[in-house]
Amino acid sequence: GRTLTFLRWPEAIDDHGAWRYEEDGGLLMKDGKIVAAGAYADVAPKAADDAARVDHRPHLLMPGFIDAHAHFPQMQVIASYGAELLEWLNTYTFPEETKFLNAQHGRRIARLFLDEVIRHGTTTVAAYCSVHKESAQAFFAESHDRDMLNIAGKVMMDRNAPDGLTDTPQSGYDDSKALIAEWHGKGRQHYAITPRFAITSTPRQMDMAGALAKEFPDLHIQTHLSENHAEIAYTCELYPQARDYTDVYAHYGLLGSRTLLGHSIHLSEREADALSDTGSVAVFCPTSNLFLGSGLFDYQRYRRREKPLRIAAATDVGGGTNYSMLRTMDEGYKVIALQGEKLNPFQSFWQITRGNAEALSVAGRVGTLEEGTDADIVVLDSRATSVMELRMETVTSLAEELFLLQTLGDDRAVREVYVAGKPAKSVIAG
Ligand code: GUN
Ligand code: FE
Repeated sequence: GRTLTFLRWPEAIDDHGAWRYEEDGGLLMKDGKIVAAGAYADVAPKAADDAARVDHRPHLLMPGFIDAHAHFPQMQVIASYGAELLEWLNTYTFPEETKFLNAQHGRRIARLFLDEVIRHGTTTVAAYCSVHKESAQAFFAESHDRDMLNIAGKVMMDRNAPDGLTDTPQSGYDDSKALIAEWHGKGRQHYAITPRFAITSTPRQMDMAGALAKEFPDLHIQTHLSENHAEIAYTCELYPQARDYTDVYAHYGLLGSRTLLGHSIHLSEREADALSDTGSVAVFCPTSNLFLGSGLFDYQRYRRREKPLRIAAATDVGGGTNYSMLRTMDEGYKVIALQGEKLNPFQSFWQITRGNAEALSVAGRVGTLEEGTDADIVVLDSRATSVMELRMETVTSLAEELFLLQTLGDDRAVREVYVAGKPAKSVIAG
């Protein structure tokens, strides 16, 4: 099939050096890795005589998409009407997450969640579990069974939540530590220290999260930052000593190059500098930010400022409204357009592949089609629907085709997904 992979951020739509596109491409996979990539004529002779051959022409092969922030216990929260963040959490999300005390329920939803993720072309997700260690057990077991490279953590939350949805500073620390011991580095699993956000953690728990971060410096840390004005105001009330919301996390040693800060919308220049100075990642969640009315993430300002931010993109399911990174970047394009800017299609596809891999510090393993990396691949069909097929009649460039895929595509455009070299979408029932 045709293959597309990125080498670096594409500065412009004609920055051809930023990507490698093969009209007649080939990928040779062995033991879950890409062992040869390039023109089909160069790759084919390297295959063993008994190697299986799959012809994906005329489809487009890209690295599997990466979703930098999603909540697996929120599958049955998606499409909950009429509330902004704090009311949405209290009315819909927290009651739903209490169900994940039940390991059976967690296992079922983890299975269905990873089915959806794969069906939509995503091969790596940074996931929040519920407060219950059982939910993280369920997620990692399911992820490990599928040999997916995923990042996940049990949420730490010890206040401002209903009974049945809180831990304590000690139990949150102990449960996280036990999960790290069991799952971090097992196969392709990564543990993320996951204090939900400042509002649902006491200073004592934030201390414990910081202690974990110190003990395990190679772990990711994921939390939420500056999503909505009421959230920011309440955080500043709860942490009166902090200069601003970002300073809360800085104070507890939670910023750094492995820190993923969901939303990061309403940042002051000082806060943006603090993220930049520590290499922390601002995670753009467009469908969620529009759905909850949270605000417009200023992607281009963050990218172009004197101290640029590292940026990732994510669904934030179930505040987000779609599992698809194509739908996510379509909405992202509109959020950026509302601010008088543009993100070109090469930049979009860079973001959800190599860009997110770099932001999640898993570049070199996933996010490209380079030799030696893991064979996580998505196969895209630009003529998946009648609407797409008709529009494709007038498409004359790769840039136009990518933009069509982003604007009109969804799970129907995902023909196949390979996880660690094995077909994963076609084997999902239903
Ligand atoms: N802030 C704290 N928890 C959440 C959550 O589950 N979703 C979103 N969108 N924001 C949050
Ligand atoms: Fe979130």
